[in-house]
Amino acid sequence: MIFRTIIEDIRAIYRNDPAVKNIEFILYPGLQAILVHRLIHPLNNIGIPFIPRLISQIARFFTGVEIHPGANIGKGFFIDHGAGIVIGETAEIGENCVLFHNVTLGGTGKHGGKRHPTIGNNVFIGTGAILLGPITVGNNVRIGANTFLYMVDIPDNATVVGTPGQIVRLNGQNVDIKPSDTIVPQETQV
Ligand SMILES: CC(C)(COP(=O)(O)OP(=O)(O)OC[C@H]1O[C@@H](n2cnc3c(N)ncnc32)[C@H](O)[C@@H]1OP(=O)(O)O)[C@@H](O)C(=O)NCCC(=O)NCCS
Repeated sequence: MIFRTIIEDIRAIYRNDPAVKNIEFILYPGLQAILVHRLIHPLNNIGIPFIPRLISQIARFFTGVEIHPGANIGKGFFIDHGAGIVIGETAEIGENCVLFHNVTLGGTGKHGGKRHPTIGNNVFIGTGAILLGPITVGNNVRIGANTFLYMVDIPDNATVVGTPGQIVRLNGQNVDIKPSDTIVPQETQV
């Protein structure tokens, strides 16, 4: 199972990065970080304390990518360049997603429990994008470089850009929509 997922992660590099040649993929810090995560996430899930977090921090030292061992990440995940990425403990990422450097999937500091974003399948997140809170990003969404999303959901098939993020394309049509504010469930508030 893990082996198949890792094969899909490697295939994602060839699908998304025209610069990769022969076996250069082994040099990619994004792949190194996700490989470590694939190994320590099951350890975290069975409740092994400290060790998964220790290994994750060592991986962060070498790759610049910080993925909490608790994060759920689907197969075919591609991180380009790597440095500066932060993926929080309760973040969930679907299949075949792409993240560039300096992306944050973080909390607001005001929520407990589920406090990080949930990302659908086939989502592209450009460099420097910051997504905060237990928000939901739909399938086939494209998030532009330096977009900022705070406590708003994004529907399927949208392109969202800017600070704060505006939906500029939805289901192939040009639009100009402010994402509606998410109602934060009371139980997640600290
Ligand atoms: C958003 C993005 C994914 C393109 O998605 P798309 O659905 O093809 O959208 P378009 O290119 O048609 O752009 C739609 C509109 O958003 C604007 N736009 C695109 N990206 C933007 C960004 N990051 N910030 C602000 N506006 C942006 C475009 O100018 C366009 O505006 P217009 O309709 O007034 O002309 C892409 O522009 C992007 O930001 N990619 C990130 C790439 C990256 O991080 N590269 C790092 C390489 S090291």
